[in-house]
Amino acid sequence: MKIIVTGGAGFIGSNFIFHMLKKYPDYKIICLDKLTYAGNLSTLKSVMDNTNFRFVKADICDREAVYKLFEEEKPDIVVNFAAESHVDRSIENPEVFLQTNILGTQVLMDAGRKFGITRYHQVSTDEVYGDLPLDRPDLFFTEETPIHTSSPYSASKASADLLVLAYHRTYGLPVTISRCSNNYGPYHFPEKLIPLMIANALNDKPLPVYGKGENVRDWLYVEDHCKAIDLIILKGKVGEIYNIGGHNEMKNIDIVKLICKELNKPESLITYVADRKGHDMRYAIDPTKIHNELGWLPETKFADGIKLTIKWYLENKDWWEDIISGEYQNYYMKMYGNR
Ligand code: NAD
Ligand code: TYD
Repeated sequence: MKIIVTGGAGFIGSNFIFHMLKKYPDYKIICLDKLTYAGNLSTLKSVMDNTNFRFVKADICDREAVYKLFEEEKPDIVVNFAAESHVDRSIENPEVFLQTNILGTQVLMDAGRKFGITRYHQVSTDEVYGDLPLDRPDLFFTEETPIHTSSPYSASKASADLLVLAYHRTYGLPVTISRCSNNYGPYHFPEKLIPLMIANALNDKPLPVYGKGENVRDWLYVEDHCKAIDLIILKGKVGEIYNIGGHNEMKNIDIVKLICKELNKPESLITYVADRKGHDMRYAIDPTKIHNELGWLPETKFADGIKLTIKWYLENKDWWEDIISGEYQNYYMKMYGNR
């Protein structure tokens, strides 16, 4: 079995590569990644010498490079993680989101059609459903919930999903889509809530909470997401969408307070800053379908997962200190300087 994993130098893609190489030692995994600001080769250093692993630096929008790789490797499966993934950046500059997230998806699917694959899997997000009100805890996103996007990021991911379904119906491309809730865990880029708060707290820097910190996200340990995708690509039904989430809703402010507590840092570091434009209030996944059809259940409880994550950031300071010492400083000033 040969699998092309795009975006494998990023957060979830790298964790997926580690999971697959460990669980299926006879599979060949080819990582295709452009190495944008969010992709780090150092993340993949533990697998670089594995003879069943190959890294190729390329842009999923580069048709020639993508076709060349498909011709060389003749993959069975493509799992597309490659994306611009940060909502705040999409608000500042939507264009690259439309290019990578929509047109890049099209190039990969065209390659799948041209060279023949048994599965194209699109890694999507619960953000395509928009948000839920805080005063209706009985409501959850199911696979039938209409698409209703808020940010340029979620609109680009939803557009890609529609294109994936169109390629299935029109050309018969064997596709699946997964829509997961917020992930956390090792190798999470420190521009996102949990790693940003851990890094800032360790450096005794202010912890910038948007608005009142009342927004709710449904957090899932990254390894549980990877296990779900593994099940979907090998056992999921072609043409289907699967929601992934672990019923673990938390307010942002409670997460930040928990991180302070775990790191023994004062809550006085918490600083309320101007809210995100169009900020989604609540995400909450109903994972009944993937549970009933594929037997998936989350294995890591948040109380354990957050401890594992904090431990990882403490033990891998080189990884994130290197990131936040470079171009990230300009990003941070631009996003948080006058907030
Ligand atoms: P990430 O930003 O950490 O990683 C993205 C990776 O894609 C990076 O390695 C980057 O170099 C690569 N990339 C970006 N543009 C590319 C291009 N044009 N060509 C090739 N490679 C390119 O993202 P992540 O958090 O790991 O998310 C992975 C996927 O999962 C995304 O599609 C995202 O929408 C989805 N998702 C993320 C979450 C989450 O909580 N992080 C939740 C649900 C779904
Ligand atoms: P984020 O990690 O960017 O994920 P997403 O927006 O895709 O859910 O943000 C998670 C939540 O945390 C979201 O409600 C915005 C909030 N947030 C802050 O309050 N402060 C921050 O510095 C960041 C990055 C996020």
